[in-house]
Amino acid sequence: MVHSGGHQADIGVIGGSGLYSFLDDVTEITVETPYGPPSDSLFIGEVAGRRVAFLPRHGRKHHLPPHRINYRANLWALRSVGVRQVLGPCAVGGLRPEYGPGTLLIPDQIVDRTKAREQTYYDGEARADGQVPNVVHVAFADPYCSVGRRVAVETARASGWEPVDHGTLVVIEGPRFSTRAESRWHEAQGWSVVGMTGHPEAVLARELELCYTSLTLVTDLDAGVVAGEGVSHEEVLTVFAANVDRLRTVLFDVVGRLPETDERDCLCTRALGGLDTGLDLG
Ligand code: ADE
Repeated sequence: MVHSGGHQADIGVIGGSGLYSFLDDVTEITVETPYGPPSDSLFIGEVAGRRVAFLPRHGRKHHLPPHRINYRANLWALRSVGVRQVLGPCAVGGLRPEYGPGTLLIPDQIVDRTKAREQTYYDGEARADGQVPNVVHVAFADPYCSVGRRVAVETARASGWEPVDHGTLVVIEGPRFSTRAESRWHEAQGWSVVGMTGHPEAVLARELELCYTSLTLVTDLDAGVVAGEGVSHEEVLTVFAANVDRLRTVLFDVVGRLPETDERDCLCTRALGGLDTGLDLG
C-alpha cells in the first residue's frame, strides 16, 4: 500500500542488524519523503494496544551498509505516519571487558566519529518541493529521551535482563570495524560501546521533536579490548540472533509502557522551541 498521509502509528522501531521483522500481523506501506526513499517499507501493526511502525534500518535483506542508510528519509517517514517516539535497537561492540556479548546497554551519551552523513534537515538548501529550511541549532547535550531511557532501563530490569544504565556510544563511519589502535583509543576515552548507526539517527529525531531511545546490544568485545583476530560480521550476527528473542520481548514491553503521544512532557517535545523552521513538519 502506498502511504497517502494521516496518522497510522505512535511509536517507531528501527531494527538493526539481525532484527529485520518485528510483528506478525502488519500492514506494509510505502512512504515517499522529500529526502528520497527510506530503507524499506514501514510495517505497521499493534503491540500492547499501541500502533507501531517498524522499519528495518538496513532494509529487510540487509542491502544497505551503515554509511548508505538514508537516515533523513527514515526519520521523516516515521514522523509522517504519526510516530512521535522512536526506539533504536542496534548491535554494538563492547569497549570494556565487563561489557561482553549479550550485554544490554542503554546509553545516555553519544560521540560522533562518522565522516560523511547528512545529519540535519536544516541546511538552508531548498528542497525539491520548494520548502526552504531555515538554519536551526537544536540542543543535543542530552541526546536521548530521558523518559524513553527510564522506561527502557526499568523494563529490561523487570524482565530479568539487568541493563547497563548510562554509557557513551561512539559511532564510527564503517563499514569496516575499528583497528586495534582506534579501539584502544575509544576505550581510553572512557567510552562504553562502539557502533555504526547511532548517528545521525538520534539528532535527526531531535530535529523533528521526536523522542529517541537507543538500546544497544553488545555482540562482541571490540578489537582493542581482547587479543585475537578482531571482530567479524559473522560473530555480530550470531550473537545478535542468540539474543533477538529477548530483545524483541523487551521492546514489546517498552512500547506498552511509553507515554501516550499527547502525554509526552520531555524536552524532546520542545526541541524546536516554537521556531519557524521553514519546513512543514506535518
Ligand atoms: N557493531 C557490532 N559490533 C561492532 C563493533 N565492534 N564495532 C562497530 N560496530 C559494531
